[in-house]
Amino acid sequence: MMRVAYLFAIMLMAASLGCTGGKETPLSTKAVATPPPLTYTPPMIDTKEAKALFEIKCSLCHSLDRPTSKKMSYDGWLSTVHRMKSNGAPLTDEEAEIIAAYLAIEYPKEEV
Ligand code: HEC
Repeated sequence: MMRVAYLFAIMLMAASLGCTGGKETPLSTKAVATPPPLTYTPPMIDTKEAKALFEIKCSLCHSLDRPTSKKMSYDGWLSTVHRMKSNGAPLTDEEAEIIAAYLAIEYPKEEV
């Protein structure tokens, strides 16, 4: 009987000392692997600047109503703008993304 009480006391002490068997694990600062996005993420844009860029760059070969008569998602606009790049539009990749983001805001694909 004494023996059981003794063991119990040791167990209590062990528990109150926080015997968790090791150092506390620090919160990980490592980035957790995230699944690849399903769609491309549009960059944050300044709508005014993006509009100006769009109006300059996209009126070089055809009128602006060629794009403004369309409605697309960001992905759709991005691939269209990249196609314009291969048509010869003078655009950097960054400008392409800005214009695509602008168009996806102003001329978004309609929800079905
Ligand atoms: C170098 C000339 C050129 C520039 C600059 C240009 N385009 Fe085009 N665009 C074309 C040509 C050529 C076509 C017709 C062939 C095609 O659809 O690829 C076209 C067609 C289009 C179409 C119609 C496509 C369809 O599916 O009916 C859209 C929308 C369009 N352009 C958007 C844009 C946007 C947005 C920009 C600015 C980023 C731009 N274009 C800049 C040459 C250009």
